[in-house]
Amino acid sequence: MTDPVFIAVAKTDEIAPETAREVEIGGRSILICHSDGRFFAIENLCSHAEEPLACGRLKRGWISCPAHGARFDLETGEPLNPPATEPLKTFHLRVVGDVIEVAL
Ligand code: FES
Repeated sequence: MTDPVFIAVAKTDEIAPETAREVEIGGRSILICHSDGRFFAIENLCSHAEEPLACGRLKRGWISCPAHGARFDLETGEPLNPPATEPLKTFHLRVVGDVIEVAL
């Protein structure tokens, strides 16, 4: 098994606490989320009706979908309340110095 390839996507100070930034990697829209003192990478696509999550509210390690209000755990992608029942796609993220890197 080969090691994942990490790609630099942002500096840590470019994403304020409890906000997210949309980046495109390999044709996929990914959200880099800064919440609860940590960074997370999720697909910018709700598992309920495939609406973008980019304008969703972040708090204490979850993001809420702006369309119908489902909340998701940013670490696991698991839904925390209806109407979503399926998890979000999450990606490996690491911070090297002040650079955020993501692997698809
Ligand atoms: S599209 Fe996200 S909760 Fe419906």
